[in-house]
Amino acid sequence: MKRILITGGSGFLGSRLAEALAGENTVWAPSRRELDFTSAASVAAAFASFHPTHLVHCGAVSDVGMCEKQPQQSRIVNVDGPALLARASAENGARMIFCSSDQVYWDGHTCPGRPWREDDGCCPGTQYGRQKLEAERLCAQLCPDTVSLRLSWMYDAMARPGQHGDLVQTLHQMAMSGESRGFACRDLRGVTWAEDVAAHFAAALELPAGVWNFGSPNTGEISALELARTGLAALGADVNLAVPLDLPPRELRMDPSRTAAAGICFGETALRLEECLRRGR
Ligand SMILES: NC(=O)c1ccc[n+]([C@@H]2O[C@H](COP(=O)([O-])OP(=O)(O)OC[C@H]3O[C@@H](n4cnc5c(N)ncnc54)[C@H](OP(=O)(O)O)[C@@H]3O)[C@@H](O)[C@H]2O)c1
Repeated sequence: MKRILITGGSGFLGSRLAEALAGENTVWAPSRRELDFTSAASVAAAFASFHPTHLVHCGAVSDVGMCEKQPQQSRIVNVDGPALLARASAENGARMIFCSSDQVYWDGHTCPGRPWREDDGCCPGTQYGRQKLEAERLCAQLCPDTVSLRLSWMYDAMARPGQHGDLVQTLHQMAMSGESRGFACRDLRGVTWAEDVAAHFAAALELPAGVWNFGSPNTGEISALELARTGLAALGADVNLAVPLDLPPRELRMDPSRTAAAGICFGETALRLEECLRRGR
């Protein structure tokens, strides 16, 4: 039986992973008061008391705007914290699973003209993306058995109190209020149902060390605008509530074929979003 320590257990992903992994494992998802992973003493105490075989690191400043506004404070959480945890994992023989992001890939200038692969050069264009990439590299250096999962933007069928919003909540609000919103018509990315991430997570614990694209593909090149309209249609709402925003193009789609070859297959972005919204209606 694995002993899994999950940071960020009150957060969007950590709370769902704690539930998904609990059945077959001993899971501890401490609050920030119980484990502040930016404190070496707190990290040492958590490892000494729980003796994890696996550390799933979901804790972060996950708000991209907040990282731009507070680069130093967010760096302490997004880079220094993971480094402390990686060192403790290596010292205690635990395997580290680091939650990274598709935002490591692109600064808005050069892209491969196809979805990003793990071995493409990364050139993140945001503080958040740079912090995630630096943390991935530090974790691999300090704890060579680290699995870094590059996650895409996630949503779930039901909102949980105290957690940040997601695309599904936005679409429900638009459908209920009739309020229109802008969506970029040249923004390409995968978006992933958190239920799928949680369902595949036990398998992720077994992946070889390294970096893995871990989310739904968007092979149909469906823009943020088209995706929002697909979602509104699934809710039976007026698709024109999603208004085009003419922002510069963005390519954040990930190619998950390496992860699929390891036996972890995510469904297509638009199909899974439709399924989630239809099921929740
Ligand atoms: N959600 C997405 O769409 C998405 C997409 C790509 C990647 N990711 C990555 O996936 C991971 C999980 O994201 P999420 O959306 O679940 O994040 P979230 O909802 O913002 O949760 C972040 C968690 O981190 C905790 N935390 C922050 N600083 C801490 C500290 N010093 N000590 C202990 N806990 C601390 C927070 O605790 P408090 O509740 O006490 O603040 C919260 O539980 C993150 O690494 C994020 O960057 C998320």
